[in-house]
Amino acid sequence: MNVVLFGPPGAGKGTQAKELSKHYDIPHISTGDILRANVAEGTDLGKKAAEYMNKGELVPDEVLIGIIKNRIAEPDCKSGYLLDGYPRTVPQADALSDILKDINMPLEVVLNIAVPDEELVIRLAGRYSCKCGESYHIKFNPPKEAGICDVCGKELYQRDDDKEEVIRQRLVSYKRNTQPLIDYYEKAGLLVNIEGAGEIDEVFGQIINVLDQYK
Ligand code: AP5
Ligand code: MG
Ligand code: ZN
Repeated sequence: MNVVLFGPPGAGKGTQAKELSKHYDIPHISTGDILRANVAEGTDLGKKAAEYMNKGELVPDEVLIGIIKNRIAEPDCKSGYLLDGYPRTVPQADALSDILKDINMPLEVVLNIAVPDEELVIRLAGRYSCKCGESYHIKFNPPKEAGICDVCGKELYQRDDDKEEVIRQRLVSYKRNTQPLIDYYEKAGLLVNIEGAGEIDEVFGQIINVLDQYK
């Protein structure tokens, strides 16, 4: 199945994608995780990306289009893909459609996870992340042992962009640049809305109901 998980910062894209990737055995491709891995390794790409990410702004389109083109060409995507955090602008969406046409793996569905702004800020301000890609919430989804990842045992950290002023800027960037894609994919007949304000398991149940049709 060929899927985009769409939604504002903190909507639960990463949380749901981790579970969906296991459930359907398809790769979870998070552009945020790819960029953070580059920042952690200190690559040239990472150094450039961090300047934007730490301000809550989008990294330039040409950088992201290059990343996604390479990633989607890898052999594990032959059976499908679950994109998280890409596309985020109209040029990124147009480029994606060209890339997918070339490899004959067109997008089947875009899941738009909707959550009110106030809830997004609470989720992000209380998030603890792991280098392995897992994320937790101090109240809504705590790890079994405080500060330690359940999956890999590493120490959890707070993302640099999960400070309140950066969270606000990420929401501004989302509204300005990314929200127009809702209309874009609605017109393409690919959009399905998911009520993202419920419990993690409830949201997962709604998503499975939709995605089971594409198995
Ligand atoms: P990215 O890493 O993609 O961040 P984001 O879109 O801001 O989204 P988040 O990862 O913050 O939220 P999420 O929806 O994954 O939520 P999560 O599941 O963790 O991008 C970071 C930066 O990289 C961007 O700002 C930009 O600079 C750059 N970038 C990346 N891609 C780019 C692109 N394509 N173009 C340009 N720049 C790009 O959940 C959040 C919290 O809520 C967690 O604590 C979780 O436990 C909790 N939670 C989840 N679900 C629920 C629930 N149902 N109930 C209660 N709590 C919940
Ligand atoms: Mg995420
Ligand atoms: Zn971990």
